[in-house]
Amino acid sequence: MATLGFNVDHIATIRQARGGREPDPVHAAVIAELAGAHGITAHLREDRRHIQDRDVLLLKQTVTTRLNLEMACTAEMVKIAVELFPAMVTLVPEKRGEKTTEGGLAVREREKELAPAIETLRNHNILVSMFIAPDYNQIKASKRIGASHVELHTGYYANAASGTPCAEMLETLREMAFAANKLGLCVNAGHGLNYQNVTAVAKLEFIEELNIGHAIVARASLAGIETAVRDMVSLIS
Ligand code: PXP
Repeated sequence: MATLGFNVDHIATIRQARGGREPDPVHAAVIAELAGAHGITAHLREDRRHIQDRDVLLLKQTVTTRLNLEMACTAEMVKIAVELFPAMVTLVPEKRGEKTTEGGLAVREREKELAPAIETLRNHNILVSMFIAPDYNQIKASKRIGASHVELHTGYYANAASGTPCAEMLETLREMAFAANKLGLCVNAGHGLNYQNVTAVAKLEFIEELNIGHAIVARASLAGIETAVRDMVSLIS
């Protein structure tokens, strides 16, 4: 059975829009765990556009399931990860202007640069996952440089129009999950998964954890409006 890693970045994005204290991604993580999330994921970006250093420190102290720190492979981030000691680090590509992580990490092309960082993290007993396109060359490169996990990018599947392209992308995910498992890698997946497209991916063999953020926060923002408005009306009147 696949498990859920709830990505709290999107809560932090709402907070940063006003620059205040709410909503707090740490509070969201507590509620998500109480609701059954199996893990909490937070992406500390180099530009700190949503998650802040304070958030990951508090998440480390409060998360009772497992904390997955998403980050770019830079010296600054590796230092933070070693000091923080999350259960897992997921290495992702980062581009300054992007709205969200756009593509997978080019592991094959960046092997020399990535390998020492992975070694450092693993020497500190941190599991290392590579966020990659569902591509056999990237899977093999991830294995070669010592990753324990891969996270298969499901954005290509999520963005494919329903019908043949979507079915083909799902088949690719199935094949790549199998291939990664055969190489001894643990397999996670995520990006763009929502209430309509998640079931097919959750059913795939060998996929252990799905990292989902936007769809959950989007639904929460609508599903919670009724209570939030009632509470405010009650206070005002
Ligand atoms: N996995 C990775 C590596 C990501 O960068 C993101 C986006 O924050 C997600 C999963 C979650 O994607 P989404 O917000 O579309 O559910």
